[in-house]
Amino acid sequence: MLARVWSASIVGIDAVKVGVEVDVSGGLPGTVILGLPDSAIQESKERVKATLKNAGFAFPMRKIVINLTPADLRKEGPSFDLPISVGILAASEQVGADLLGDYLFLGEVSLDGSLRAVAGVLPIAATAQKMGITSVVLPVDNAQEAAVVEGLSVYGCKCLSDVVDLLNNPGRHKPVEILYGLNSLHTHSLQSADLQDVKGQIHARRALEIAAAGGHNLIFVGPPGSGKTMLARRLSGILPPLSFAESLEVTRIHSVAGLLKNRGSLVRDRPFRSPHHSASGPSLVGGGTFPRPGEISLSHRGILFLDELTEFKRDVLEFLRQPLEDGYVTISRTKQSVMFPAQFTLVASTNPCPCGYYGDTIQQCTCSPRQREQYWAKLSGPLMDRIDLQVAVNRLKPEEITQQPTGETSQSVRQRVQQARDRATTRFQEESNLRCNAQMQSRHLQKWCKLDDASRALLEAAIRKLGLSARASDRILKVARTIADLAQEDELQANYVAEAIQYRTIDRMQ
Ligand SMILES: Nc1ncnc2c1ncn2[C@@H]1O[C@H](COP(=O)(O)OP(=O)(O)OP(=O)(O)O)[C@@H](O)[C@H]1O
Ligand SMILES: [Mg+2]
Repeated sequence: MLARVWSASIVGIDAVKVGVEVDVSGGLPGTVILGLPDSAIQESKERVKATLKNAGFAFPMRKIVINLTPADLRKEGPSFDLPISVGILAASEQVGADLLGDYLFLGEVSLDGSLRAVAGVLPIAATAQKMGITSVVLPVDNAQEAAVVEGLSVYGCKCLSDVVDLLNNPGRHKPVEILYGLNSLHTHSLQSADLQDVKGQIHARRALEIAAAGGHNLIFVGPPGSGKTMLARRLSGILPPLSFAESLEVTRIHSVAGLLKNRGSLVRDRPFRSPHHSASGPSLVGGGTFPRPGEISLSHRGILFLDELTEFKRDVLEFLRQPLEDGYVTISRTKQSVMFPAQFTLVASTNPCPCGYYGDTIQQCTCSPRQREQYWAKLSGPLMDRIDLQVAVNRLKPEEITQQPTGETSQSVRQRVQQARDRATTRFQEESNLRCNAQMQSRHLQKWCKLDDASRALLEAAIRKLGLSARASDRILKVARTIADLAQEDELQANYVAEAIQYRTIDRMQ
């Protein structure tokens, strides 16, 4: 007999519906799986066989042909265990097949019959709903993640016997209810540290506020122990909370990467990713035979923090150039090409020279000018050009170290950031692809960053003195726009432009 059940496979951060056809017929006992399965699916033959026996069902000792459609799509992962098991049970008439077409099945099975959570459930549930499937059956640990999708009945099952009972007695089972809905989204469940703990460093704190308000990339440059890492880690705490749409986007990516915490519903905090400097190119931008998102996509709508930037391999850093410009990355493979979103704010930190003390007030720098030149050469012009805020962080003065911190809390800074972002959002009403000032293009600058005579004279002098490129001068205008937004002003005044010019520390150093 032939049975067909629905499942799905992940492609990038989307899902494609997959039909699992199972035919049990006379002939020599044996099982084949057709339709470009990967090795995990091939292994599921043995897993399913043992599971069915252990869970008290019969594994038909006949010829079993399992066909995964569409045939030209490569399919991967253990999530096909459950649909294959259900298909075999239906084809051997051990479970009612009347309602099979209404359900989509997903999940790994253990040898004892229990179901184990799998990755990529949110995009699959969303696809199922779009394709008119009314119910999804999956491991109980994945149920909350799928329940985020409206208009879908989600059944979380502990073991294979539960699934069989659901199919035989649908009236007895109720779909799960979502535990963490929209209301819990805006509570800003921050585990991140607070700006209140930072002593002094007024200049760097201000730069963080500007970065948060305008989505500008930022680098802290300073001697060891000056607080660069400490400051950078506090940026996520002053960003506005994710909107529901943003939260869905982020959750999709984390779901595909199998990184959802507690397999719970939505990601509610802005991502903060800080890969180690030994990271490889693919781990940063994404890759693999079945492409998976890398760090830049995992930090979508949040922060990518590259601590000790100069320690990263140069060719790895070069990978960042295109996504920083475009906000996405495309990964091409022979069989498929996928696009991952990657709109993140880059925050980096580095010492000013190999010994770490160039420009320090107490310790003498021991590097030669040539060594310093080589050190900065590694960070290539094109990458530094994309960093709007270059901020020198000096070591604290002795009296600052010994005093109690007196700065504002992250919460109060966040309110100003939100107000500045609201102004930008109003301005960008007719430009649906713009979310923050950092994303403005030349034509937007002409419209919203008009200079008066005093500001123009100031900018011209800076371009001449610091030898700034046209791109660097555009970046100054964007930062000045954010500073004006923080001051709730429409016009760019000369003092805003002056402050923006200050954030070209590295141009000034070279
Ligand atoms: N402004 C500050 N306020 C309070 N504590 C600080 C400050 N700056 C540094 N510290 C303390 O010093 C520690 C080291 O700071 P941090 O790791 O941020 O330095 P760093 O600049 O990143 O150094 P490195 O270049 O070695 O990475 C912090 O964990 C914190 O305890
Ligand atoms: Mg550090």
